[in-house]
Amino acid sequence: MKSTSTRVIALLLLQFLGAASALAQNTASPPSLEAERTKQEKIYHGRGELRLEGYVIDRSLSAYVRALPNGFAQSLANLGPEERWLDVGAGQGLAVLDYYAPEYDPRQAGRRERQIKKASAVAMSIEDRRTPRWQQTVDTVEPKQLQYVFGKSLREYTVDELGRFQLITDVIGGFSYTENLALLMEKVLSLLSVNGTFYTVAQDVRNEAGSNKPHYAGEPFLSQIKNAAGEDIGICAWLKKISCIEVTCEYKGDWTPPLETYKIRKTCNAVTVPQMKSERFVAGTPPERVFVLASPASAKP
Ligand SMILES: C[S@@+](CC[C@H](N)C(=O)[O-])C[C@H]1O[C@@H](n2cnc3c(N)ncnc32)[C@H](O)[C@@H]1O
Repeated sequence: MKSTSTRVIALLLLQFLGAASALAQNTASPPSLEAERTKQEKIYHGRGELRLEGYVIDRSLSAYVRALPNGFAQSLANLGPEERWLDVGAGQGLAVLDYYAPEYDPRQAGRRERQIKKASAVAMSIEDRRTPRWQQTVDTVEPKQLQYVFGKSLREYTVDELGRFQLITDVIGGFSYTENLALLMEKVLSLLSVNGTFYTVAQDVRNEAGSNKPHYAGEPFLSQIKNAAGEDIGICAWLKKISCIEVTCEYKGDWTPPLETYKIRKTCNAVTVPQMKSERFVAGTPPERVFVLASPASAKP
């Protein structure tokens, strides 16, 4: 994430997939949603040489600690043996595997005692990216302590299927890739226990202060949320409209592309997420997206 030029790769991708250039798409008619979905599916399922360089699936736990907001390492270290962690968009699930490695020591994150038994974890991915290390680790933990779920996107799961979690993470997973961000947030918050925390990031977006410019000259921000006047309010301002959560947004301008990170604590169950319509979705790693806020009356409890 830090070193790859995502948008350049997105352009290469469009050529690779035999599509018209992104430039042409920006100036001509809007890209067809069905065609973009097909391209996005190819990105998810690309293997070997067909996996795009920008589609990173093997970030370690230390990469998660660097990318996610302050507090993530501590929240993970604090999980008790009966508690649960969900990683949405886990790729190979390397961060989860690192947590179960014997070398993982929660005292590095400030916990006083070494934890005897680790929490349970679920790694979720659309496509199955498990490696032999996954099974080797499963063999060392209790049944059901470590699960990998795949084959569909987060919004297609129910709370009955997955249960509830005290910690949820998303590092350039569903939060960055979904074409329905409101539905994704609703699902994440329904799976999160009260007092649980969701840690996530977005790259190349308008920051909370409105002080940054799109990373690539002449290109828009990668994800935009527009109000009725057509102005991009940014992801942070939208998250802050959701009820029953506390949101902290932190901008990491020294990353390439820059990141905004989000720490979201659920405070009560009456969550209401302001609905949005998708105005633009262009396949990529991650895709370019424009959402438009619906009128306040359409917010779903
Ligand atoms: C670029 S990889 C990131 C993998 C991992 N977080 C890492 O940093 O190495 C994107 C991951 O998100 C998953 N993904 C994308 N959209 C998703 C969605 N709506 N629900 C669940 N997983 C999703 C993909 O299947 C893939 O596993």
